[in-house]
Amino acid sequence: MAVLLFLKVKPATINDLDVLHEIERECFTIEALPKEQIARLLENPNTISLGAWILEEVAGFIIGSIEDLDETKAGHVYTLDIAVKHRRQGIGLRLLTELERIFTAKGVETCYLEVGVDNVAARELYRKQGYTEVDTLSDYYHKGGHGVRLVKRLKT
Ligand SMILES: CC(C)(COP(=O)(O)OP(=O)(O)OC[C@H]1O[C@@H](n2cnc3c(N)ncnc32)[C@H](O)[C@@H]1OP(=O)(O)O)[C@@H](O)C(=O)NCCC(=O)NCCS
Repeated sequence: MAVLLFLKVKPATINDLDVLHEIERECFTIEALPKEQIARLLENPNTISLGAWILEEVAGFIIGSIEDLDETKAGHVYTLDIAVKHRRQGIGLRLLTELERIFTAKGVETCYLEVGVDNVAARELYRKQGYTEVDTLSDYYHKGGHGVRLVKRLKT
């Protein structure tokens, strides 16, 4: 896709907070993460935050972290947000692929995330990227707002 030629994925920092919060609100409206929570994630040394830039404009971002389990490491994707006008151009897939690449380089074997049952776009994106739905999560987001947990094995 032509836009991907101009796309640059690089770490997002606290300096990007305003625009990231704007995109988060556009994506999730009343359920958007508060600005303070995004700031904490961006400043947390244990999280990996990536932004997608098209020329000077931020088109979207992804935030994840690595969790130490008993004998393995798991990657957790907290949020993936693409601004409305930049959707369906492969940017969401590109950000997820880059986060998975970083997870793998750091020894992560399994990646997981949660998504709303009604979120057709995201569920389709994750299915396409090789995620399997493993659990349903009743009232996960709010009463009646059910979720689904998905998992992908990164290392074979
Ligand atoms: C879900 C979201 C991240 C997708 O980002 P995107 O950059 O538009 O996705 P991509 O262009 O990389 O799409 C990759 C594939 O996902 C699927 N997909 C994406 N949007 C879709 C839609 N609206 N309907 C159906 N399938 C969709 C398609 O299979 C698509 O491939 P195709 O365009 O070749 O058919 C974006 O819609 C978004 O930010 N939504 C609001 C926030 C959100 O729900 N985040 C996920 C929370 S877990």
